[in-house]
Amino acid sequence: MTEHLFAGRRGGPQVIVAGSEREFAVLAADKVQREIRGRADCVLAVPTGNTPTTMYAELSQRCRDGELSFAEVRTFNLDEFVGLPGDHRASFETYMMQNFFTHIDIDMANVHIPNGHAANLEQACVEFERNIAAVGGFDLAVMGIGANGHIAFNEPGTSFDSRTHVVTLSEGSREAHASAFGGLQRVPLEGVTMGIATLLGARRIVLLAKGADKADIVAHALQGPVTAEVPASALQRHQNVTFILDQPAASQLVGGQ
Ligand code: GLP
Repeated sequence: MTEHLFAGRRGGPQVIVAGSEREFAVLAADKVQREIRGRADCVLAVPTGNTPTTMYAELSQRCRDGELSFAEVRTFNLDEFVGLPGDHRASFETYMMQNFFTHIDIDMANVHIPNGHAANLEQACVEFERNIAAVGGFDLAVMGIGANGHIAFNEPGTSFDSRTHVVTLSEGSREAHASAFGGLQRVPLEGVTMGIATLLGARRIVLLAKGADKADIVAHALQGPVTAEVPASALQRHQNVTFILDQPAASQLVGGQ
């Protein structure tokens, strides 16, 4: 059963706690589907990571079942590693192809992924922002959260005014990807990411978090002070945010039930 708890202060993030893995995927997919129903050519910011894989599977199934079409949808990925060829097995581009884009009817001309192997990365960041602006910004931005509170690859200390930029990845963020690369030494030192201001520019935001290892940081992000030390706390300043959590990820929240 879905629980709607921790409604929080007026205008603050809404929190939905899923009762099962299946329900988590359905709730997340419903958010995306609602956007497409509202506007067939909606603009989505989309994440990678372990957390959204079941959402992508659910959306892919709905597309196969003819319930929704991505034919006109535009997507922008949140982030990418620097220095990897797009088809590297651990790139976010490969992740998106494997988990989503090859299973749906999206037009690949409408897919945008930050170019981590551009000759001029700064220029590529400027162009990425220009492309987002050219389509009128995001209708919905879906994101996960890192164990240190990062959103996309915006590590603690990142300015809330930041736009798409190159970042030095924290050791913890690199460790989280070590197995995919076959060891920490092989994980790139840098990433390219939408900035916090880029994400906050979305009309609607959904943050997904699963697992007990996210419980502490989710509580800080939702109920702690708004601080650059917890990048996800910036979401408290947005007027239309929903956190979709599983029960372990919600376990440190105060004030529920
Ligand atoms: C990665 C990505 C983030 C993602 C986060 C959480 O570093 N850059 O965009 O949200 O980690 O990933 P996971 O869902 O695997 O915990």
